[in-house]
Amino acid sequence: MTNAALITAQDVMKVYDTGRVEVRALRGVTLDVHKGDLLAIVGPSGSGKTTFLNLIGALDVATAGRLNVLDRDVSALSKRQRADLRLHSLGFVFQAYNLVPVLTARENVEFVLELQGVGAQRNKQAMEILEQLGLEEFADRRPNELSGGQQQRVAVARAVASKPQLVLADEPTANLDGENAEILLTMMRRLNKDHGITFVFSTHDPRVVAHARRVVTLVDGRVAKDETKTPVPLSDGSGESKENAPCGTSAPEKPKGRSSWPCGLWFLPV
Ligand SMILES: Nc1ncnc2c1ncn2[C@@H]1O[C@H](COP(=O)(O)OP(=O)(O)OP(=O)(O)O)[C@@H](O)[C@H]1O
Ligand SMILES: [Mg+2]
Repeated sequence: MTNAALITAQDVMKVYDTGRVEVRALRGVTLDVHKGDLLAIVGPSGSGKTTFLNLIGALDVATAGRLNVLDRDVSALSKRQRADLRLHSLGFVFQAYNLVPVLTARENVEFVLELQGVGAQRNKQAMEILEQLGLEEFADRRPNELSGGQQQRVAVARAVASKPQLVLADEPTANLDGENAEILLTMMRRLNKDHGITFVFSTHDPRVVAHARRVVTLVDGRVAKDETKTPVPLSDGSGESKENAPCGTSAPEKPKGRSSWPCGLWFLPV
C-alpha cells in the first residue's frame, strides 16, 4: 500500500500561551502525508513549520483539531505512549545534529537501539547501518572529532537505525555547505527510494526543495500551497535507472569515500 496515509492532520491548531501573550502558531492545518512521500515544508520564519513537526513527532500536543500519526491519535496518547511512538516508530534529524557528545558515532547509534531493547546484536547492527551509509570510518569518533556534515550523516544513521517508517527533519541542512548538503540529501533520497522511508523536512533551503517530491508552504499557520513536483536527479553516480536494482544484481559498487547503500538494509521497513 504505497498510498496509505501515515499522517492525517485535520484543522490542527496550536496556541502557545506564554502567560503574557497567546501565539496562534497553527491556525487550522489540514494535510495528509502518504507512505513514500518526500515532503518539504517551507514558509517564512514563524509560519509554524517547527511547531507542526513537533506535533507530528509527538514532542508536543495540538490545542485543537485531529492529528493521526501512524494510525494513532496523538492527542489521545499519554506522555509515555508518545515517548514509545517516538522511540519505536519515528526518526528525528535536527538542525543542530543533537548527537550525544561523549559517545562515539557507533555508540550514538547503539544508544537508540539499546533504548529500544535490542540486546547483544546492537553493536553489530549499529556497525552495519554505519557501513551501509558509508560512515564506517567515523564509527569510533566522537562528535567533536567529526565535521558538521559528518555529524549530520551520523544523525541520519541514528534516525534510521530505529527502523522508523517516518523520519522528521527540522532544517537538516541549515548548517551544511553545498557538498555536505548534497551528500546528506542524496542519502535521504536513497533511503526514501530504496527502503520506502517517508521523510518530512522543514526547510528554508532551496537545495532541500530541489530533492523533494512534494512542497507544502505554510503561511501564518495555514497551508497556503501544496505542490507535487519532480525531484532533481540523484547525484551519487549510481544513476536514476539503478534506483530499483534488486540486491545482488546491477546495484552499483559503493564508491570510495561516498555514501552508498544499495542493498542489505534488511532491518528497515519497505
Ligand atoms: N514555545 C513557544 N512559546 C511561544 N511561542 C512559540 C513557541 N515556539 C514557537 N512559538 C511561536 O510560534 C510561531 C511559529 O513558530 P515556529 O518555530 O513553528 O516557526 P518556523 O516556521 O519553524 O520558523 P523558522 O523558519 O524561523 O524556524 C512563531 O510566532 C513563534 O514565535
Ligand atoms: Mg523552525
